[in-house]
Amino acid sequence: MLQTRSKEFDAQAISHHYDLSNEFYKTFLCENMVYTCAYYRKPDGGLSQAQRDKMDLVCRKLRLSPGEDYLDIGCGWGSLAIWAAKHCGVNATAFTLSRAQAEYGQDWARREGVEDRCRIHHMDYRDFPRDRTFSKISAIGIIEHVGIANYSMFFASVRERLRDGGLFLNHGITANKFWKHTSQTDFLLKHVFPNIELDNITHMMDVMERQGWEILDVESLRLHYARTCRHWLERLEENAERIRRLVGERKYRVYRVWLASSSASFYSGSLGLYQVLMQKHQVSRCFDPPLTREDVYREFLRPDGVRRGIGA
Ligand SMILES: C[S@@+](CC[C@H](N)C(=O)[O-])C[C@H]1O[C@@H](n2cnc3c(N)ncnc32)[C@H](O)[C@@H]1O
Repeated sequence: MLQTRSKEFDAQAISHHYDLSNEFYKTFLCENMVYTCAYYRKPDGGLSQAQRDKMDLVCRKLRLSPGEDYLDIGCGWGSLAIWAAKHCGVNATAFTLSRAQAEYGQDWARREGVEDRCRIHHMDYRDFPRDRTFSKISAIGIIEHVGIANYSMFFASVRERLRDGGLFLNHGITANKFWKHTSQTDFLLKHVFPNIELDNITHMMDVMERQGWEILDVESLRLHYARTCRHWLERLEENAERIRRLVGERKYRVYRVWLASSSASFYSGSLGLYQVLMQKHQVSRCFDPPLTREDVYREFLRPDGVRRGIGA
């Protein structure tokens, strides 16, 4: 199972899943088009607000500020890059291996009026130019597709593209035991994500440190993902007729089984979800992160002058 894979294999695997139908994804993900774990500040909160709160949380952990060069790796339909350009005033660059996602994101950035500050590309992370560097980088939900054998190369390549003292946030699903064949993983690989591979957080952080990262902060969002999958499942079932028309009965059933089993796996703890905030070692002392986490949860002033607390 632990094999490096070709770019061609990954391109096909990603297209198989993400190029299915933008309308289908919008129906169950909601209008934010965020395809990763949400952040529920209120236990009974809804999906849309929780996805906005998640994007806000990531921007705050990265301490994004106006004018900074920010890169989002594996950007989906561009939601976080557009959010960061709009609400934090950064110059965002983002890319995805799915053509349908990249085209959707480019059009969405135009509709939001941020196309000059948010550029979305269709690209493999291995092809991203080495001479482009950024102050802040995020990778939200791509590590599952990278493959364990490629972790060292992935974390080293992110580091190369980050400036001295810059921050990197990795957000990804983990398996609490070593990844092995079960009927559940066989179903997942055959019908849902042909190139997914999960690792435990201990090994992942070991690779990060060996690649020279300093780990600043680690947060588990496991129960948030159990709830997110349940909300996606509810939306899928509420819109069953429309979804059958968009992608057919077979896909509808596959996604239903997959979302229900994923929610149960996050509840039980056999799957995990961690955000790991890292810093590239500073040769010159250019950015000292705050001593506490308090600023992450504090109200602040948006570039447009509006005062905003987390999630507002
Ligand atoms: C689960 S989605 C997460 C999308 C987005 N970050 C979000 O939070 O909604 C995983 C993303 O990783 C991208 N991806 C997977 N493998 C990739 C690769 N080799 N190069 C670039 N992007 C990749 C997919 O195209 C997809 O956009």
